[in-house]
Amino acid sequence: MNITTAENDIEYIMFSEERIKKRVAELGEELTEMYKDSVPIFGCVLKGASVFYTDLVRSYKGPMFMDFISVSSYGQAAKSSGTVSFKKDFDNDLKGKDVIIVEDIVDSGLTLKYLKELLRQRDIKSVRTIALLNKYECHPQELDTDLFGFKIENQFVVGYGLDYAGYYRNLPYIGVLKKSVYE
Ligand code: IMP
Ligand code: MG
Repeated sequence: MNITTAENDIEYIMFSEERIKKRVAELGEELTEMYKDSVPIFGCVLKGASVFYTDLVRSYKGPMFMDFISVSSYGQAAKSSGTVSFKKDFDNDLKGKDVIIVEDIVDSGLTLKYLKELLRQRDIKSVRTIALLNKYECHPQELDTDLFGFKIENQFVVGYGLDYAGYYRNLPYIGVLKKSVYE
């Protein structure tokens, strides 16, 4: 691992702060319309989705509840480990509720598949999934989220909640990490 500074380690900015802000506002409006007759639970998938989540819930205009789940498939690497480990469950009883699962990015789709399987056992009224980023070439189409911010090619990105070995979650933009940092 060769972390130095963002100026050194980021190849280029893929989505600027302004561009993300605009898209998240659109997604918030869309969800507000979709759930106007409901009080949904927004379920944040920690930690990657945390930054997206806090912006998304503030662009959502109706009554809602917040909850958090923690799973991990990457560990300290830039490649999925191929297994999902479970760290923390939601606090709310989701029975009979409309649930919106908020993810940072869908890559292989393994995490999403795991979450959907887990929630299927819970007598939930409805589940929708939303991810900021969709690495559309990396998973079968049926594992796409119902809503997403942007489609991206198969590159390793950091910022706006996304990390490499815990680093760079705090960047306000999303940037492509130089290969030399993780290879
Ligand atoms: P999946 O299970 O392969 O779909 O991967 C999902 C998780 O891997 C995401 O929630 C991210 O935390 C992480 N991940 C996948 N691609 C990237 C990336 O390009 N940058 C940072 N994290 C990523
Ligand atoms: Mg994640």
